[in-house]
Amino acid sequence: MTRRVSCRVCGGKVIEIVDFGRMPLANAFIREQDFAKEKFFRLAAGVCEKCSIFQLLEQPQPSAMFHSDYPFFTAGSERMREHFQRLADETKGFLTSRSAVLEIGCNDGTLLENFHRAGFRCFGVDPSSNTLERALARGLFGRACFFNSKTADEIYADQGLFDLVLSANCFCHIPDLGDVLDGVARVLSPQGVLVTEDPYLGEVFRQTSYDQIYDEHVFLFSVTSMANLLAVKDFEIFDLEPQWTHGGSMRFYIARKGARPVSSKVREFLKREEQAGFKREEIYRAFAAACERSRAGLRECLEDFKRKDKPVYGYGATSKSTTVLNYAGIGPDLIKAVFDTTPEKQGKFTPGTHIPILPYAKFIDLCPEAVVLFAWNHAQEILKKEEAFRARGGKWIFYIPEAHVE
Ligand code: TYD
Ligand code: ZN
Repeated sequence: MTRRVSCRVCGGKVIEIVDFGRMPLANAFIREQDFAKEKFFRLAAGVCEKCSIFQLLEQPQPSAMFHSDYPFFTAGSERMREHFQRLADETKGFLTSRSAVLEIGCNDGTLLENFHRAGFRCFGVDPSSNTLERALARGLFGRACFFNSKTADEIYADQGLFDLVLSANCFCHIPDLGDVLDGVARVLSPQGVLVTEDPYLGEVFRQTSYDQIYDEHVFLFSVTSMANLLAVKDFEIFDLEPQWTHGGSMRFYIARKGARPVSSKVREFLKREEQAGFKREEIYRAFAAACERSRAGLRECLEDFKRKDKPVYGYGATSKSTTVLNYAGIGPDLIKAVFDTTPEKQGKFTPGTHIPILPYAKFIDLCPEAVVLFAWNHAQEILKKEEAFRARGGKWIFYIPEAHVE
């Protein structure tokens, strides 16, 4: 693997901003017998001088990341299910009774099912066959493959045009986005709408949520960079809406250039980003410095608990936690175990740092005193669910935007 120095989108020069060092794949939860076989890459990210896209400098092969054992299932979170129900309600207006809906990266079909239940023809595409199987089990149609211009041609031949194409937390994973947009152009009806949602770079900066940077997130979009990316393929953002999901995301409403009136919100956001300096280097450098402070603070906090002989656990074996644990050098000496509700992760160990992952039930049995909230993007849902933990004196440790105990 070579380090990228030219932009994946426009070929411009990418300026290196952060280097988190040696890193395993974020979702490569590992069995003890496989420790010796673990693979690493260097996690570093930078910004393109020309189109302002924030991107990884090096990315492992997509097939190593999205495969038949992909351990992430959307339906695992109650609030995510509600969020996708709302997304469906807010986009049905683009459809007529004869419309069909395509989802790129449909995972277990949680989002698409809302359209399916409402009577629309739906088609889901996902490269991970295990998650797609769950979508098919819900009665959805779909195909286990990467969506690109070639598979788009085949899908078009088989399914025809779609009035709505959806992609939630998926575009940020795709290195060759240009080819995906070519694919969208082939399957989207002339007035059709593409709706995407991905973590928003502005929020990552605001909260120093550097754990959004991991192997699967090859891009983190600003409105500026998304607009640049689309312009090349004759698409444009005609509306947008910030979302609470994944610690702060942006929903983009996209259509062919000139096909729909552009909301003033789009222009306002572009102006706001221009004023904040998204086209200059300083804001990125400030973020890099904030990442350093954040990791040092978390280590200090955990070492303090250790000195006092108070064991600390983790809540949620998230992909994001892989970046935090490896970047900050946190292993089982500082965090005894991580609780997680996903059966596929339980009994395994965190990638690179080898902290055991225990079933959620152990959180109740062990009655820990202090727990790092790695699934901080679900804080509202989790803190409510775990009111009893706090009531009996349990402490939450947060590291976003900086380490603190509550
Ligand atoms: P997710 O939010 O998808 O984060 P990432 O994209 O960084 O992996 O992952 C949530 C993880 O946290 C998932 O493994 C399930 C787990 N989880 C719990 O254990 N309990 C909970 O209450 C919630 C909401 C999630
Ligand atoms: Zn570029």
